[in-house]
Amino acid sequence: MHFPNVISVAAVLSSLASAAPTRRCEGEGTCPEVQTWDNCLLPNQTALTFDDGPAGFEKEIMQTLGDRKATFFLNGCNSQCIYEEENVNNIRALHDAGHTLGSHGWTHANFSTLSFDQIHDELWKMEVAFSKILGLKPLYFRAPYGETSDTLMTVLAQRGYKKNFLWSDDVGDSSLLGVDYGKELYDSIAETWPNPHMVLNHASHEETVKQTLPYAMEALEQVGEPQERDETWVC
Ligand SMILES: *[C@@H]1O[C@H](CO)[C@@H](O)[C@H](O)[C@H]1NC(C)=O
Ligand SMILES: *[C@@H]1O[C@H](CO)[C@@H](O)[C@H](O)[C@H]1NC(C)=O
Ligand SMILES: [Zn+2]
Repeated sequence: MHFPNVISVAAVLSSLASAAPTRRCEGEGTCPEVQTWDNCLLPNQTALTFDDGPAGFEKEIMQTLGDRKATFFLNGCNSQCIYEEENVNNIRALHDAGHTLGSHGWTHANFSTLSFDQIHDELWKMEVAFSKILGLKPLYFRAPYGETSDTLMTVLAQRGYKKNFLWSDDVGDSSLLGVDYGKELYDSIAETWPNPHMVLNHASHEETVKQTLPYAMEALEQVGEPQERDETWVC
């Protein structure tokens, strides 16, 4: 699996996938280093990422995305319990539709404050949930608040994770910056095409789901494509 899978123009992408069960490495110094990525590698790629679900909006997000693929970093016990029936169904639907799923930790903790054992526990609980719900283990992680530590990176490596993700752009929903802030961010992404972006959105934030995301789809739709003549085609 490679991330990201581009998206083009329009949006989104990513195939950070959750993947098949992985073997864990054993012994100090034998684990492959976990890379931290904060953007797509290539021009013409915009990754849309959604944190803090499941939160009940997954079906609506999928509808708005249409054929485009996005990445969801899930919690176990944050806004909702991951094992609620509707959440289980939504997570399976995301996976079936080809979206990429990763772990965002069990309780949305500040990982820079957690001990080695607490980090293992947070990750393990999410892996159990992924196994029960999807029969898979997550290979990708995003630290809540982007707060990492050397201990976290060590534990991720020990547990067989491949990548830790940050982001290049934040729609500002978790900081309550307002819908217009998020819309302007997507306008600027369209305007600076083909620069790559990895955009942080929150699946738990209703305004993002109902207002910012539909706007983003329109803003990004025409990027990189010849456009239809309109009244702006004047010298
Ligand atoms: C951008 O990506 C789209 C979709 O993958 C592709 O059709 C288009 O040719 C790409 N444009 C450039 C300049 O790479
Ligand atoms: C996480 O914890 C660290 C260490 O105590 C602190 O500096 C940081 O501000 C915390 N981050 C958040 C988002 O609370
Ligand atoms: Zn989060």
